[in-house]
Amino acid sequence: MTHTSDPHARRILILDFGSQYTQLIARGIRELNVYCEILPFDADISRIKSFKPAGVVLSGGPATVTEADTPRADREVFDLGCPILGICYGMQTMAAQLGGKVETSKQREYGSAEIRSTSTSPLIDGLHDRLEADGTALLQVWMSHGDRVSTLPDGFRVLAVSENAPMAAIANLDRNFFGVQFHPEVTHTTQGRAMMERFVRDICDCTGDWTPANIIDDLLSRIREEVGSDGVVLGLSGGVDSSVVAVLLHQAIGEQLTCIFVDNGLLRQGEVEEVMETFKDDFGIRIVQVDASERFLEALSGITDPECKRKVIGGIFVDVFQEEADKIENISWLAQGTIYPDVIESAGAGTGKAKVIKSHHNVGGIPDTLELQLLEPLRELFKDEVRAVGLALGLPQSIIYRHPFPGPGLGVRILGEVRQEYADILRQADAIFLEELRRSDLYDSTSQAFAVFLPVRSVGVVGDNRSYEFVISLRAVETVDFMTADWKRLPYDLLARVSTRIINEVRSVSRVTYDISSKPPATIEWE
Ligand code: XMP
Repeated sequence: MTHTSDPHARRILILDFGSQYTQLIARGIRELNVYCEILPFDADISRIKSFKPAGVVLSGGPATVTEADTPRADREVFDLGCPILGICYGMQTMAAQLGGKVETSKQREYGSAEIRSTSTSPLIDGLHDRLEADGTALLQVWMSHGDRVSTLPDGFRVLAVSENAPMAAIANLDRNFFGVQFHPEVTHTTQGRAMMERFVRDICDCTGDWTPANIIDDLLSRIREEVGSDGVVLGLSGGVDSSVVAVLLHQAIGEQLTCIFVDNGLLRQGEVEEVMETFKDDFGIRIVQVDASERFLEALSGITDPECKRKVIGGIFVDVFQEEADKIENISWLAQGTIYPDVIESAGAGTGKAKVIKSHHNVGGIPDTLELQLLEPLRELFKDEVRAVGLALGLPQSIIYRHPFPGPGLGVRILGEVRQEYADILRQADAIFLEELRRSDLYDSTSQAFAVFLPVRSVGVVGDNRSYEFVISLRAVETVDFMTADWKRLPYDLLARVSTRIINEVRSVSRVTYDISSKPPATIEWE
């Protein structure tokens, strides 16, 4: 029998003090094949204890320890008996809470800095970017702070200094408590990843069992345990997350899973066939395919406002889904492709500060009248982990690495009123663009690319005749997180080929433009 380790056995807890980098800390630790979770800094101590962390990271944050009523860790966090790494604000609050002092320094330190190692420690020993003549290690780090530790708590010593932070790294080696004033989680700290590895692997003794094979074993047994012999229904869109959930559930519970795939008439060319072939034919998954395109297009008739269109599409999706689910017997669970960033986002969304720019991700929201229990097997995974799991489950690269496609589909890429005729034109133009992008080997290095239909007419000449036809705009962007994006500098030759082909091959289009707006102020989609 092969032995597989429990990937949750030794894990790290990150207490979030509000840093913009907290997710980066978590992703960095996961990339070291160690499981970790983020909890708010004021999470109940019983919750922290029951997580049984092998180590705790206190994140940075925007507040200042020098004022009362700013965030502090629960005092019992320091009595858990496990190693602690405080980063920036996390280091300052640790120092202050353990009896040291923090002051607002005259000189703020923001950006690249160099630290000099001054004493040995398992966190930094042997790491350097440069060495001085006497062998002293110098490391390039990223600083972003106004406060600094001025008096060390008992038992602590200085590990490294920088020009503006005489206590750039500190430690109590007896208790395995470490504090760094800089940010090891950002790439500008060149040895940052190595330091994080030292902390989680050497100091916290996490073995690195968080691998796709172990994750899958763990998920399969947890799904089987949770679901038992119940039936599960899943809305399959063909996007990465729902595709991975489908294959994972199929492997875990086989025939107990039914997928519902709704064709809303606003899918891309060949999408229906691709989804049915991959999941039904190749994987043998039970899928109910519903052609609801007429119903969607009828409901959208006369509606021009983007948010109204989103609501109408989302509403019908829920109705269709519910009608189909009601026809299946013994269903107790609704599976969803929720992933860890969604969980973090909704936990942090309670402040109500974020403004709604577009009502994203509401499409296909939970039809609560179904009264089903929610099954979210990917809720602990980051996107790159979902992809790794999907590949290990045998899903094709074309699905795992496909560009994101919005829930309302072509509905938000046809400006104004959605009509069948417009959708057909857009589908063809979009397919030509993506085909040429792939042919030029630029699909994978582009974050998202698509065509947009503009319902305005423009004059052209075709042969000896004047034409007066629609306009297609091409959009291609590069982005890491889809929150900000830059337009992709595609080669002119490629754009020329796409334009010629669209005008020649797609009836009713006389002009093609390329969108060169970045986000912000524009958004990626046009609506
Ligand atoms: P924007 O246009 O806001 O898009 O810059 C950012 C990302 O979100 C996708 N998007 C959506 N996804 N439902 C979705 O599921 C929506 O209503 C929606 N609107 C935009 C968009 O394709 C891009 O990847």
